[in-house]
Amino acid sequence: MIDTENVTCDTCTAPSEFVFDASDEVSRGWPRVDIELNPFKGDFPLLAQHPELAFLDSGATAQRPTCVLEAQKTFYETMNANPLRGLYSLSVEATEAIAKVRSQIAELIGATQSAVSHMISSLEAEVVFCRNTSEALNIVAKGFAPHVLEPGDEVVISIMEHHSNLIPWQQVCRETGAKLVYLYPTPTGQITDDEIAAKIGPATKIVSCGHVSNVLGVENPIAKLDAAAHANGAYMVVDAAQSVPHMALDVRELGADFLAFSAHKALGPMGVGVLWGRTDLLDRTDPVYTGGEMIDSVTEQGATWAPVPEKFEAGTQDAAGIYATGVALDYLVNKVGYETVAERERALVHYAMSRMVELPFVDIVGSIYWDQHHGAISFNVRGIHPHDVASIMDMDGVCIRAGHHCAQPLLTWLQVENLACCRASIAFYNDKYDIDRFIDSLNHVWSVFHN
Ligand code: ALA
Repeated sequence: MIDTENVTCDTCTAPSEFVFDASDEVSRGWPRVDIELNPFKGDFPLLAQHPELAFLDSGATAQRPTCVLEAQKTFYETMNANPLRGLYSLSVEATEAIAKVRSQIAELIGATQSAVSHMISSLEAEVVFCRNTSEALNIVAKGFAPHVLEPGDEVVISIMEHHSNLIPWQQVCRETGAKLVYLYPTPTGQITDDEIAAKIGPATKIVSCGHVSNVLGVENPIAKLDAAAHANGAYMVVDAAQSVPHMALDVRELGADFLAFSAHKALGPMGVGVLWGRTDLLDRTDPVYTGGEMIDSVTEQGATWAPVPEKFEAGTQDAAGIYATGVALDYLVNKVGYETVAERERALVHYAMSRMVELPFVDIVGSIYWDQHHGAISFNVRGIHPHDVASIMDMDGVCIRAGHHCAQPLLTWLQVENLACCRASIAFYNDKYDIDRFIDSLNHVWSVFHN
């Protein structure tokens, strides 16, 4: 376990003991949002119907608002037909509904601007629907990477990666003879310029990095990674699973060549993922799944592929889920708004961490700076296994995640005891009451073992 009290973060200007000083809060831009007020919980049936729960596991999956649940029902009740297959009006309506979500997502992530800069005419084609972030990254690793990797080439990822952005690269490196190289952050989670310069060089062909770490909550310097990748002729892949729920992003500003995220972390249904890629690169990418509707023509012995994005969308898609994803993103971006999301989450993280540091038996994993946590706060309770912590908290109705968080190499590198930690992950629909319940429950955990 890293002793965060004695860690000096070389990218931060203030020493750690300033973190929760009131004047520092102002200088670091603490948003003074009233977190006792919660205009959002009523929109989420599970939260509204279960006030006994403090749901602090949105990093694993978000709760869904009524409009998203209704949208799935609406799809099946009013436009249910297989998109792309039928020539009758109902099927055309379903096809159009999916197309609208495709263009909504292209707009949301700035793909339209990217397309202009790459002289691509069909903007929405850059948005591929799949099942989740893991599947999206598998398409890049299995379908694109073998075209650019030779033995001795390097794929650079960070030690913070979730397994979805790690295992596919291990596999493709094994198959192509390329080497998997890791970026290591400072003990509090910052990837420095020196580390980027040391790891990304002429042998680098692909850099793939999580935008926000699911364990440390830290935002990684994607634009710098991209600049280094492109300066060396490499491609930049961004795992945006933990950033899309929290912040506006623009693929052009990020400099990404590919980007992946899941709908279910951004208030949408489970089972819908998005892969965005530059059309010229998607054109060069082989389909990983083959079968229905991804073909151009088929003979007894061979087939040619449909253009992007259809060539990656074999079989019947979760059309109702995609339709509901559009409604979820509309709720997140237009009804709540990323500004409100960020303000509330920052205020809640600040409040949670300021209460956690008052508990001498709690060790925060990663940065002790509240403004470096985008929703996620990992921690351990001294001498108590994270699974025990989570089970006792469950008895108090507090939902947190405990374990390796699908990031085993990170926990190994952090030398966290038992290779496990607890994580509270906060969303805009949480409030002060949830955090107070969380803190009370931490005290309860400690008392169970020490009274
Ligand atoms: N990636 C999800 C998490 O961090 C599952 O919990």
